[in-house]
Amino acid sequence: MTQKSYAMNFSIILGVSVVLMLFFFILVAHHHDLPDRVQQHRGALLTTGSTVAERIKPVGQLSVASAETQREPLKDAVAAPPPSRDGQQVYQASCVVCHGAGIAGAPKLADKGQWSKRIAKGVDTLYASAVNGVQGSTGAMPARGGNPALSNAEVKAAVDYMVGQSK
Ligand code: HEC
Repeated sequence: MTQKSYAMNFSIILGVSVVLMLFFFILVAHHHDLPDRVQQHRGALLTTGSTVAERIKPVGQLSVASAETQREPLKDAVAAPPPSRDGQQVYQASCVVCHGAGIAGAPKLADKGQWSKRIAKGVDTLYASAVNGVQGSTGAMPARGGNPALSNAEVKAAVDYMVGQSK
């Protein structure tokens, strides 16, 4: 080995170690600022309203959905007509507005003169007129008295009540 080659080897070793040191420095620096960035990221997750909303959204939807299904049977119970409603009650709720005073050509309750011809047609015809509605000579009788929530049985019970009062 000559002096020259020693010097060359030395400079190669020096160069390599400088590169290595630089590499290590970059590596350390990179990892050194990593906790900071994690902190920032976590801060953003915790403080940004949208991020929080996004994270709790599925839970909120789930609980709303389950509340809805729990409410369902109650809604049905409220919507279903009370089974105890008799003909007079249905009449008072849905028919009296026209038949009470004989408005718009409706045969007046207990007016035997107005009812005798109708009763003579038979109760089944009267049921059909009340359930389906009828456009008659004196006016228009709306189906179910304009209350689609009434069952057939309720409408028929009201007809029975009206006929009973008008004989
Ligand atoms: C908007 C007014 C109105 C309401 C509310 C109403 N009616 Fe009438 N109804 C009439 C009119 C008008 C007639 C006469 C139709 C005709 O000329 O035959 C009539 C006729 C009838 C007749 C006789 C049908 C026939 O074939 O002769 C019956 C029975 C009757 N209504 C039952 C009811 C019952 C039951 C209710 C309640 C559930 C009711 N109506 C609610 C207007 C009404």
